[in-house]
Amino acid sequence: MKLDNTVSAVITGGASGLGEATARALAAKGVKVALFDLNETKGETVAHELGGVFCKVNVTDEASVDAGFERARAAIGQERILVNCAGTGNAIKTASRSKEDGSIKHFPLDAFNAIIQINLVGTFRCIAKSAAGMLSLDPTADGDRGVIINTASVAAEDGQIGQAAYSASKGGVVGMTLPIARDLMGEAIRVNTILPGIFNTPLLAAAPQNVKEALSASVPFPKRLGNPPEYASLALTMIENGYFNGEDVRLDGGIRMAPR
Ligand SMILES: NC(=O)c1ccc[n+]([C@@H]2O[C@H](COP(=O)([O-])OP(=O)(O)OC[C@H]3O[C@@H](n4cnc5c(N)ncnc54)[C@H](O)[C@@H]3O)[C@@H](O)[C@H]2O)c1
Repeated sequence: MKLDNTVSAVITGGASGLGEATARALAAKGVKVALFDLNETKGETVAHELGGVFCKVNVTDEASVDAGFERARAAIGQERILVNCAGTGNAIKTASRSKEDGSIKHFPLDAFNAIIQINLVGTFRCIAKSAAGMLSLDPTADGDRGVIINTASVAAEDGQIGQAAYSASKGGVVGMTLPIARDLMGEAIRVNTILPGIFNTPLLAAAPQNVKEALSASVPFPKRLGNPPEYASLALTMIENGYFNGEDVRLDGGIRMAPR
């Protein structure tokens, strides 16, 4: 798909990190952007800078997502591109014994479900509603009606201690990529997923310097964290290269995560 000012895009999680970098890269090509995020302050600032629109959206909330698409489409037109970056994680062991008093507890199911709702169901909700909207468009001259990019994680394949919920949610995103691409193949909508390794985003900015250095050293090559524009660059390749479809691609400097 050729990227220019005739194309509109919705980026979930677009106020920060990987989503923000992708919104910036798309806007730099002239694409009109709508940012869906919970973070109103940051979202408004970034959207204003990019000449786009911010929509306060919670991807776990059906009415909120519907209202977001309605607002975005009224402002910038029906999107041809959806990039799903909204997401978060937690770190809780499946079952564990307290070192202090020997008491036993397990992963609370509401905490497990919360991550599935945001990362997996929230991603699917936005895909389904965006794809339905894209069906109202005619394909472009290069034959694409729309492109959808999702964000999983290397934790989909090598999740660490405490990542049962996060890995399950991201594994779900990887698992649904091909069937969704197949569902939409007759409508000229392509679907791909990126599995980032460890990226230098606000999610990680709060970590102490020694933790960041240890994480950087664990990457085979290059020995550093990924930069958000490197994620954006792959997202744009997946959008622009018309033969990219149904793929789950790691972007991780060759890292394979250890148990902890
Ligand atoms: N940074 C990394 O190393 C890394 C690695 C692998 C995967 N990822 C994934 O990449 C995606 C983006 O992460 P990031 O590092 O840019 O994090 P980030 O925290 O900088 O950005 C995520 C954004 O998603 C938004 N968000 C969270 N829950 C939401 C909800 N329910 N509705 C709408 N918006 C919501 C947040 O407000 C935030 O602005 C996430 O799905 C994350 O799991 C990140």
